[in-house]
This record gives sequence, C-alpha cells and structure tokens, in this order.
Amino acid sequence: MINLEGKRAVVTGGASGIGRATAALLAELGAVVVIADLDRERGEEAAKETGGVFVRCDVSRREDCARVVDTAVALHGGVDVLFNNAGIIRRSTVCEITDDDWDLVMAVNVRSVMLLSGLVVPLMAASGGGSIVNTGSGWGIKGGARAVSYCASKGAVVNLTRAMAIDHGPANIRVNCVCPGDTATGMLAEEARQLGESVESFYADAADRPLGRIGQPQDIARTVAFLASDAAAFVSGAVIAVDGAGTA
Ligand code: NAI
Repeated sequence: MINLEGKRAVVTGGASGIGRATAALLAELGAVVVIADLDRERGEEAAKETGGVFVRCDVSRREDCARVVDTAVALHGGVDVLFNNAGIIRRSTVCEITDDDWDLVMAVNVRSVMLLSGLVVPLMAASGGGSIVNTGSGWGIKGGARAVSYCASKGAVVNLTRAMAIDHGPANIRVNCVCPGDTATGMLAEEARQLGESVESFYADAADRPLGRIGQPQDIARTVAFLASDAAAFVSGAVIAVDGAGTA
C-alpha cells in the first residue's frame, strides 16, 4: 500500500536518529532523497546508505534552506515530500535558560519549518500537490519538566502544522505532524547528559509507558512513510502521537 516510487523527498536532520531512519525507509520504498543536516560526516554516510544526496545546511538559515531546495530542483526537478525533522533540545526552566538558547531552539525547531515549507510549497503547488510532515513531540501536546523552550517550540510546530494544512490544502498539499515519544536517538542521550543522569536510568524511565518500551527511530519512520504516501491522501492537519500511548 505504501509505495513511494517517483516521489522526490527532502529530509532534514537526516544524518541521525529519526531523520536517518526515515530517509532510509523512504528510499527503500522508492523515493529519491535529499538529506539536509548540519553534520557533514554523518550526513554523507547517510546519503551513501540511501543512495541519496547530502546537503550541509543549518535549517534555521534562509540561505541554507534555499540551497537545499535548489539542489532538489536541480537534481530531481522538484519536491513531493518534505520532512521537517531537524531539532534540538535544551533542558532548562524559564529561570535557567539564556536568551541565546531560547532563540536557538525556536529558530532550529520552528523557524526552519516556516523557511523550508515556504520555499517548497510553491513547487508542490506547481506540480499538483505534495506532503509535508513536521516532527513535533509528545511535549508539543502536553508539557514536560525543565524543557521550556523545547515545549514552546513543539507546541508551535503542532499548531503551525494545522495553519499550513488550512492554507495549502486547496493546492492539494497535505501537512501533518508526527509526535514521537521518547525515542532511542542521540537526542535522548544528550538530554541525559544535560540533566546529569545516566543514559541507562534515563532510558528506563522513558520506557515507563503503556507499551512498556521506548520508541525506535523506525517506529516514527513508518508513520512518516505512510503520511508521505498516497495511502494518506485524505489525511491532513493531523497530529499523530507515535509514543506507545505515552500521552494517552
Ligand atoms: P538526533 O539528535 O539523533 O537527530 C537530530 C538531527 O538534527 C542531527 O543529525 C543534527 O545534526 C540535526 N540538526 C540539529 N540542528 C540542526 C540545524 N540547525 N540544521 C540542520 N540540522 C540540524 O535526534 P532525533 O531524536 O532523531 O530528533 C529528530 C526530531 O525528533 C527532532 O525534531 C526532535 O525534537 C524530535 N523528537 C525526538 C524525540 C526523542 O526522544 N528522540 C522525542 C520527540 C521528538
């Protein structure tokens, strides 16, 4: 049912974790993939794995995003699937966070979605439509401790998704948000580090949810592949938790 033959995809944060697993799955299902990430070494590795192309990019910068889209157009003639997935976290309260960290998280997690989508929507509209998937978080639906900028940014991504789905539905562009629960990636280890906890105890706490385990990047990738595909032709403006009932 999920066939992505002929689809031209862009995946941000594709050097690692959820983005990397998704780039690999989209390619396996037939898509051609452009991987955009800050991390050149791992990004090039990921591109080699998927048979795709890597573009080094800071998703918070307009000129970098334009380079990604220009590359996709030059190589593939357009973009049918955009996975806005790159993201960062800073674990702090409003009393602890610096202005710079606040701005950085909002720029990487939210402004990037506006920038890349703004560049890609006209291309999708011109070619009859497309699918944009944004990575939110369980913490875009509910709050979490010591993560104020992250929670604010992911709440913004959730509602930005809905606003974009309304604006661009008439051009046959579907916009959805996938909200992972704790997933075994570099981000989770980074959170343990920021909080001064051991990765093992952090992972054990994260597994305390009805399905009794943490997420794997492939759990999220499969949902993104569905949303990217024509099997999800009437799914737009949706916010889908993939979290073993963590937010339930
Ligand atoms: P990760 O740390 O493994 O991957 C994030 C990727 O984004 C890295 O390759 C990194 O180099 C890239 N990146 C960071 N800043 C960038 C920038 N300015 N420009 C371009 N690339 C940049 O983490 P993970 O978990 O795969 O994160 C993917 C998304 O999933 C993020 O949006 C994150 O907030 C979200 N998420 C992750 C959860 C988890 O438990 N791992 C839970 C809920 C949401």
